[in-house]
Amino acid sequence: MRILRKPLGFSRRLLQVGWCHPNESLSALTRKTLVPRRRKTPSIFGLDQRQRFSIMPEVEASMRDTGLFSPPSDVRGMTKLDRTAFKKTVSIPVLRVRKEVINRLMKALKRVALQRPGIKRVIEDPENEDRRLVMLDPYKVLTVDSFEKAELSVLEELDVNPQLSEYNLELTYENFKSEEILKAVLPEGQDVTSGFSRVGHIAHLNLRDHQLPFKHLIGQVMIDKNPGLTSAVNKTSNIDNTYRNFQMEVLSGEENMLTKVRENNYTYEFDFSKVYWNPRLSTEHSRITDLLNPGDVLFDVFAGVGPFAIPAARKNCTVFANDLNPESHKWLLHNCKLNKVDQKVKVFNMDGKDFLQGPVREELKLRLGLSTEAKPSIHIVMNLPARAIEFLSVFKSLLNGKPCSSELLPIVHCYCFSKDANPAQDACQQAGAVLGIPLEASSSVHLVRNVAPNKEMLCITFQIPATTLYKNQALSVENSEEPSLKRQRTDNDSFSESQITSDS
Ligand SMILES: C[S@@+](CC[C@H](N)C(=O)[O-])C[C@H]1O[C@@H](n2cnc3c(N)ncnc32)[C@H](O)[C@@H]1O
Repeated sequence: MRILRKPLGFSRRLLQVGWCHPNESLSALTRKTLVPRRRKTPSIFGLDQRQRFSIMPEVEASMRDTGLFSPPSDVRGMTKLDRTAFKKTVSIPVLRVRKEVINRLMKALKRVALQRPGIKRVIEDPENEDRRLVMLDPYKVLTVDSFEKAELSVLEELDVNPQLSEYNLELTYENFKSEEILKAVLPEGQDVTSGFSRVGHIAHLNLRDHQLPFKHLIGQVMIDKNPGLTSAVNKTSNIDNTYRNFQMEVLSGEENMLTKVRENNYTYEFDFSKVYWNPRLSTEHSRITDLLNPGDVLFDVFAGVGPFAIPAARKNCTVFANDLNPESHKWLLHNCKLNKVDQKVKVFNMDGKDFLQGPVREELKLRLGLSTEAKPSIHIVMNLPARAIEFLSVFKSLLNGKPCSSELLPIVHCYCFSKDANPAQDACQQAGAVLGIPLEASSSVHLVRNVAPNKEMLCITFQIPATTLYKNQALSVENSEEPSLKRQRTDNDSFSESQITSDS
């Protein structure tokens, strides 16, 4: 391959590449390396049009990596987005074909057709209205030899001359991908990961320090390149506040944080700046609600805006949902109405401990004492991974009297974090330490997600033993508790802060 001899900025738009004698067969062409010959372009368009064509010299392999589709180098360091600075002209190979064969041809040339945002792969041939130009990917097609056998046979079948021409394609900001734009703008060699969580119309970014000087530009690029996004925010602190909502800065777009999301076919509306919402928990929400059967009872201690409670209610479960954050409580009520389950969900705005010791205890007393044929399962979901384990101590001696039958004992799904080498074992130990019982043999642990390097979010599921739940049943267990576990454990009324970690 030889280097493109045409100097950059050469004004001709479409250049012929190699040529094929009308009598020369396609297969003969593929066997030899084409030595392009300059041909005079027919002068039917006048100078402007003629300037679009020339012979396309073969491109040296090294040219392929020089970033043909990178934005111009002078955008490096830009902090205020100037879309006009992204204009650039590149030479790409094109096939000139009869318009009737386009549909069949494009199916066969999927592999090699140019794929750029906002660029049509087929355009009119300025030389001949009955012809079309098929844009090809210059990283895949340099000469006729670049076509695969199957592609060549379709060309032959459709009587398409495989001779390549060169077209000067003008690229603008619209034709670059967000990664390409950020790679060209941010300091060379620095990580430009442009990942974000999507929450309705909001892109939620978590920028690193070196990206901060470019934060407004990054936010705008995310909005421009992702249809439906109209606002970009950056997390400005870890979620370590009580209500687990983010401290955030609007980087670009609208300030309005009232948004609407769909998750597992349910709709939720809320103010993202005031409540907790994590789109990465949708699988976990459905994993838990899939465990429920119609008629079951769900107590959701840290309910947020309703992603466990609402699907459970739709399954005809009886739901008691609580959140301490008045904003979450407001949107939880709103979302119950929105999803038409407001008659099936009782909503509370209390501290989780008070909720467990109040409405949950009352309901358990009532339900566990009933001797009915139907035996609905009772589930208690506790999704506040940084602190939920502490709240388990409330279950100790929560009820008085004669224990219910074992199948009625409530099933707890309690979330936690672990940085341990064996996170599942650690989750058992954390929960067991608070309850004063070994849980290894009587629980299951589900790995929910990796929240940070070496930090897992887990869900431990177990049935509360009668000896724990009922007063005067637990003495023997208390006495056999290991001293080390005792130190970590707190009593029902005072919650230890020692295990509080921050969410990522
Ligand atoms: C991690 S979020 C989970 C929300 C929801 N379950 C979900 O999956 O999206 C934890 C929720 O617990 C609430 N919360 C925090 N401390 C609480 C407490 N002491 N009592 C009750 N709710 C609390 C927060 O307001 C937040 O909505």
